Amino acid sequence: MSQHRFAFVGTGGRALSFIEPLVTTYRGTNELVGLCDLSPARMAYYNAMLTGELGYHAVPAYPADQFDVMLRETRPQTVFVCSKDSTHHDYIVRSLQAGCDVITEKPLTIDAAKCRAILDAQRATGRRVRVAFNYRWAPFRTKVKELIAGGTIGRIRAVNLEYLLDTNHGADYFRRWHAHAAESGTLLVHKSTHHFDLVNWWLDAIPAQVFAYGDLVFYGRENAVARGDAHLTTYPRYTGHPEARDDPFRLDLDESASFRGLYRAGEADSGYIRDRNVFREDIDIFDQMSLNVRYRTGELLTYSLTCYSPREGMRVCFNGERGRIEYHEFIGTHMNRAVRPGDFQLDTKPGAEAEGEWIRVFPHFQPSYLVPMPLATGAHGGADEILNRSFYDPAAAGPDPWGRFAGHEQGAASILVGIAGVESIQRNAPVNLLDLVPLRPDATKLSELT
Ligand SMILES: NC(=O)c1ccc[n+]([C@@H]2O[C@H](COP(=O)([O-])OP(=O)(O)OC[C@H]3O[C@@H](n4cnc5c(N)ncnc54)[C@H](O)[C@@H]3O)[C@@H](O)[C@H]2O)c1
Repeated sequence: MSQHRFAFVGTGGRALSFIEPLVTTYRGTNELVGLCDLSPARMAYYNAMLTGELGYHAVPAYPADQFDVMLRETRPQTVFVCSKDSTHHDYIVRSLQAGCDVITEKPLTIDAAKCRAILDAQRATGRRVRVAFNYRWAPFRTKVKELIAGGTIGRIRAVNLEYLLDTNHGADYFRRWHAHAAESGTLLVHKSTHHFDLVNWWLDAIPAQVFAYGDLVFYGRENAVARGDAHLTTYPRYTGHPEARDDPFRLDLDESASFRGLYRAGEADSGYIRDRNVFREDIDIFDQMSLNVRYRTGELLTYSLTCYSPREGMRVCFNGERGRIEYHEFIGTHMNRAVRPGDFQLDTKPGAEAEGEWIRVFPHFQPSYLVPMPLATGAHGGADEILNRSFYDPAAAGPDPWGRFAGHEQGAASILVGIAGVESIQRNAPVNLLDLVPLRPDATKLSELT
């Protein structure tokens, strides 16, 4: 049987969650044919892992400026894009133009012009683009979809979503490239794309207009000094700085083999410093954001993201014509440590332990009840495993009654909320999404979009 040929661009921490299952569980029907990254050292780390603990073979590794050569020489059918967010559009467009399909990590891209370039390239080539929205695939979030689609509380009119990032995982975004709007689009795009996608998908609705506020109140040098934490600002990074020993925001890249292999070893060839001080000067993203969204079909979303919380998770409330659903998800904290999926672990923090997930339905004029939850284990609430099966063994994954696959248009519907949010903050005015990207003006439901 011929194998499906995958090439990867971006061999940082996240790519491993897709590469390991490809070359182990799914190697019978799939083949990894090439790697591409800015850093030869990071690709060498992957190749050492492939030939070592993963029991595969080395694959050709191409520096970023040789991406087109990789496509020509290795002839992938699908390119998996796992590079820094600001580079996604470029690799998606070039892959489509070379006749490949694409699976891209979220966010699809970071601004309106890049989004239009992707939609144009897809239209011109007719190739398939999928966005790896793993949040949709976690069984408990699928359960929420099932309840809403089943009419449990009638037509939904308003949603309230509060998301908390903590001083462990949340702080990690401020150590890296995500702290620069030009590289991540801000966390309203990089992170909130997950949340906006969930609401779009849960409601089966398309966002139309956004008004937003955003501030940087916690991270960054100025905020630390104003709080009396100037002592936390005196070193540019954490690794190799003994004076940072007691800093609760410290990350030591010498602590694990994966950090050393992926990031320490790749500093010289890529200039990427993974552990920069979260209280340095050049951070230009927000750490608290608040938005109102109006959907094409009239629903309202009230959304907030706080990035300096002592605990991590989300609380979502749906108000419907026949009642209310509350969904809580406080599953403990973690950091992307670039470990193999089987080694994924939540960190423990006294007082902020995993509370788990629960859904309570409050019907009008009747007692409320808790909904039995599906079992979920593994990285990202079991989502990564199910998502990988759908990519690498679609026949075994079976039908997808909840429409969990997101194509380029659904990927756009999600990032455009964040992109409009950033513009709204800058202009202090509401922003219409159709003024940014003419995304199927005729459509009313998300499921009408690819
Ligand atoms: N869905 C999820 O749960 C989830 C989790 C983590 C990351 N992600 C996404 O995965 C992607 C990678 O994130 P990560 O955590 O692995 O980040 P990372 O910083 O560990 O890796 C990013 C990689 O991109 C490479 N890169 C940067 N510029 C490049 C260029 N011009 N050409 C080629 N490669 C380039 C870097 O060298 C690095 O290896 C991001 O888009 C992120 O949003 C998704």
